[in-house]
Amino acid sequence: MDRKKVDSEQHRRPLFDGLNQHKKKEKVSFHVPGHKNGMNWDETWSSFQSALSFDQTEVTGLDYLHDPEGILKESQELLSKFYGSKKSYYLINGSTVGNLAMIMGATNKGDQVFVDRGCHQSVIHALELAELRPVFLTPDWTEMDQAPLGVNIKNLKEAFEHYPAVKALIVTYPTYDGMVYPIEELIEYARERKCLVLVDEAHGPHLTLGDPFPTSALDLGADAVVQSAHKMLPSLTQTAYLHIGNQSSDALKNKIEHYLHIFQSSSPSYPLMVSLEYARYFLADFTKQDLIATLKYRDLWKKQFKKAGLTIFQSDDPLKVKVSLINQSGEELAGQLEEQGVFGEKTDGTSVLLTFPLLKKETKITELFSIHITQSVKNEVPKKMKTPLLIAPFVELDLSYERQTSSTNKQISLAEAEGKIAARNITPYPPGIPLVLKGERIKVEQIKQINHYLDQNMRVTGLENQKEVVFFSEND
Ligand SMILES: Cc1ncc(COP(=O)(O)O)c(C=O)c1O
Repeated sequence: MDRKKVDSEQHRRPLFDGLNQHKKKEKVSFHVPGHKNGMNWDETWSSFQSALSFDQTEVTGLDYLHDPEGILKESQELLSKFYGSKKSYYLINGSTVGNLAMIMGATNKGDQVFVDRGCHQSVIHALELAELRPVFLTPDWTEMDQAPLGVNIKNLKEAFEHYPAVKALIVTYPTYDGMVYPIEELIEYARERKCLVLVDEAHGPHLTLGDPFPTSALDLGADAVVQSAHKMLPSLTQTAYLHIGNQSSDALKNKIEHYLHIFQSSSPSYPLMVSLEYARYFLADFTKQDLIATLKYRDLWKKQFKKAGLTIFQSDDPLKVKVSLINQSGEELAGQLEEQGVFGEKTDGTSVLLTFPLLKKETKITELFSIHITQSVKNEVPKKMKTPLLIAPFVELDLSYERQTSSTNKQISLAEAEGKIAARNITPYPPGIPLVLKGERIKVEQIKQINHYLDQNMRVTGLENQKEVVFFSEND
């Protein structure tokens, strides 16, 4: 493992130590939260008690997330040093709040931006709030299971020819399935054109560990990167990091910080924040032996799945594996696994995605058990689209976000929806990339494609009762 050299100060845990000191000092709480260190929780909830004693508020000594000068400042500085950023922030409302602050902080109302069409809804919400003029770039998708990949450089170059004054490029990397693409080419090309690169790295907070993990976009020169710590690191649900790239301007940093103040709670949860400190501390202490233990645990399970007759696909991210079974849909396979107590991360048409943990060599492993799978005789697997999705390489919206907010919604049957402006994304799975975007005028080819998906019983989200389109009424 080709790790960055980790400073010995990374063994420090200022927030954890500060909370422990406070616990010793406080004899009685006359401050919020209302559970007063858990005193009014009855004993049937005893397993929560020790966590509740960490659920403090911003009393003397415990610092302020929105104006950190003490242990929270130190703790976030250690995070920034570890990731090699200009500045890093603790987020207590997931990558969702990170994407909102990053995009609003990097743009001005009316700016044109390039956006990966397969992006997360928090990115779309940020575009709407900021009233931006997005140009959606269609990503590639995998041949094997039509899962979204990334935007390719050819598409980006062509888009730049049409829109040379674009302010920012917003991409997802790695994908939910743990796949990567040559993002460094995109970053280099965009930066040469003075276009900011904002990366939703929700699924990659562990990439900073280096080989065998793919390289983080932060290390490849992105201007700002958001990571859901809770997805792949041992921190609590809702926790995330936002990193400002080393070469980014103070103006960008300050504006993103301003939006974090607007969007984040003024009562940030200390259990969430201390778990973010733990995740950084855990990574900083991650050794070659820990990596061996991590991969060994994954490989033992892979063997069990293989023995059960499943096909295994190892993603680019060593912690992500897909399992599938011939003649069975992902949903059916997930059902069989769940009956045996095995819960995966998500299913798509053909497979179940499994995410594995980072482990320390001394971690006690729960015993592995055999998995039994019943094969299907009849073919339950949704058919793949024979022709690729007919999506133009890049498109603008036909109705701006500003005008969308002043329009009313109506419904119409899919058959009659040609020419209407969709008020919801319409997304077939796989690949999970919107075929019609909210704000896009619906074309007859798109209706044909949606019908094709529906005829094959494939999942299509965004339709009302599977047959009606919600659209913006432009006459109201
Ligand atoms: C690509 C991507 N970005 C952002 C998010 C939002 O992350 P969070 O749940 O941490 O708010 C998700 C959540 O699944 C995601 O998949």
